[in-house]
Amino acid sequence: MGALMRAACPPLILLLISCASRPGDPAKDLHSHANAAAVRMTHVDLDLDVDFEARRLRGICTLDVAGAEGDLVLDTRDLSIERVEASDGQAGFREVPFELGHADPILGAPLRIERGRGSKVRVKYSTGERASGLQWLEPAQTAGLRHPFLYTQSQAIHARSWIPLQDTPGARVTYSARVRTPPELLAVMSAEMLSGTERGGEYRFRMPLAIPSYLIALAVGDLAFRPTGERTGVYAEPSVVDAAAREFEDTEAMMRTVESLYGPYRWGRYDILVLPPAFPFGGMENPRLTFASPTVVAGDKSLVSLVAHELAHSWSGNLATNATWRDFWLNEGFTVYIEERIQEAVYGAERAAMESALEVEGLKNEMAAMDRRDQVLHVDLADRDPDEGFTGVPYIKGAMFLRTLEKAVGREAFDPFLRDYFEEFAFRSVTTAQFAAYLEAELLAGRPSVREAIPVRDWLELPGLPENRHEPVSAALAVAEASARRWGGGEVRAAQLETGDWTTQHWLRFLRSMPEGLAPERIAELDAAFGLTATGNAEILCDWLLLAVRNGYGAANGALRDFLTSVGRRKFLKPLYEELVKTAQGRERAAEIYAAARPGYHPMAVQTIDAIVGRAQSLAE
Ligand code: BES
Ligand code: ZN
Repeated sequence: MGALMRAACPPLILLLISCASRPGDPAKDLHSHANAAAVRMTHVDLDLDVDFEARRLRGICTLDVAGAEGDLVLDTRDLSIERVEASDGQAGFREVPFELGHADPILGAPLRIERGRGSKVRVKYSTGERASGLQWLEPAQTAGLRHPFLYTQSQAIHARSWIPLQDTPGARVTYSARVRTPPELLAVMSAEMLSGTERGGEYRFRMPLAIPSYLIALAVGDLAFRPTGERTGVYAEPSVVDAAAREFEDTEAMMRTVESLYGPYRWGRYDILVLPPAFPFGGMENPRLTFASPTVVAGDKSLVSLVAHELAHSWSGNLATNATWRDFWLNEGFTVYIEERIQEAVYGAERAAMESALEVEGLKNEMAAMDRRDQVLHVDLADRDPDEGFTGVPYIKGAMFLRTLEKAVGREAFDPFLRDYFEEFAFRSVTTAQFAAYLEAELLAGRPSVREAIPVRDWLELPGLPENRHEPVSAALAVAEASARRWGGGEVRAAQLETGDWTTQHWLRFLRSMPEGLAPERIAELDAAFGLTATGNAEILCDWLLLAVRNGYGAANGALRDFLTSVGRRKFLKPLYEELVKTAQGRERAAEIYAAARPGYHPMAVQTIDAIVGRAQSLAE
């Protein structure tokens, strides 16, 4: 037994030790098949044809790889691999054997390539019909109604559905691309545009800074460009671009704010691409080119915290990157914290406080119904889709942790600490353990009383919200809440409320503070006074429609249907469908609306809503 143990143990022990002692080791990423510790990709070159008819990307991906001799394992999902070649840099490319393994429902299929000593590997491939990282839009789903549209969404593990690569945030690559499209459309990427904005159907790009794979992005459509500053601008469909440029005119001021706090912007330009409404997120921080939902173009800049957020990722996330999806809070918690600092500097402390107070309220409501294991910042995602970690916890609890630290040590100490953190981890991937060690060494070691007061391990590893936390307070929101109470209690009529100077944030708090069980006529009174069914502000409309569904206000049915069939942002779809399926009649409406809307939703939204409406249907049976 002893001898057997000795014989069997050393490799296992070595493996454990090597994992434990190299916390940034990408081999620890549970969401990638890649053997990135042994063989590492360093550059990706793409040569792609965008085929709108076949709804397919087809072309060649050439990877530069470094590391020991041996097979290269890439991530793929639903890709058709036609041919694989390798070159050692001396002779030309020769065909090499490859094997596409079993497709795991979450991870996709590993592609094992017998590269030998090859330092370049090229894969001829095409994407699948339901590629999870692509959305192909019909002309009817665009503002212009005349041209189709394509965009990618690679985070968290969807790059592998359109590029065979090592799809782990622990490995970084530079990239270059040639993209061919129909000649009347423009292609843009999260990279420098070498070919300019002249149309012609052939575009070239270059990203010379090393980024994680989830930041590789492409969009193709009828796009126009407007500058908003020296380094900033907006891409959008022609009928949308002017309004978007006005909405986002403060972007340059936001950039200067972050630069003054945390050091230079390292990516050159910062442009925003406004996508059609099917985009399932508010925004995505693709480097040099944030992708944004048109639902943030409210007309009064009231929702531009989204730009602050995506811009902040140029430091937190794109420079210092979560090493695995367990460490996602390092991306999002830091980003929400910086977003709030930007909002405070550009729009004032009251606006920033309103926005964070709304978020904290949202987090508490969400946590009340959440499995305890998901309330942990350093969340366990073993055997789960990293998408399941996408909750308010990494975002708002993460930011609350940083805010609590800031309050304890003061901005004079906390701002330089973060600046140094970004410098230290620039273009690197960071684990939660590495951050904790850095925090201890650089901020807490010399401050025993702060260390005593802030239980870092509890913040990182336990569910719930630690006692000694900093919470935002907003006097302005208290006014909106008091108005809701007075109206709800019948003290005043809606028309008598003084709402003239209310911002979007006041309205959100007002709507979220409504008492339960209002009669439909009372909802009608609000609608008559404030025209809420007709609002063009998607955030307010979403909360209003929730209230309408909850209280059986049928006059909003048409608006609800229009919203659910035209907007694909998951943040809005999810609560609305969840509210609908609470009643038998609502389930019927949800199923009917969803049947019409589903073909227009992004695959990630479909996955989320299938779980809600599908579940409801089985309940009904
Ligand atoms: N990086 C995220 C979006 C994301 C996260 C996509 C995980 C896929 C997987 C982006 O920066 C983000 O957080 N967007 C938010 C907006 C923000 C203002 C909180 C969104 O889309 O809701
Ligand atoms: Zn984010």
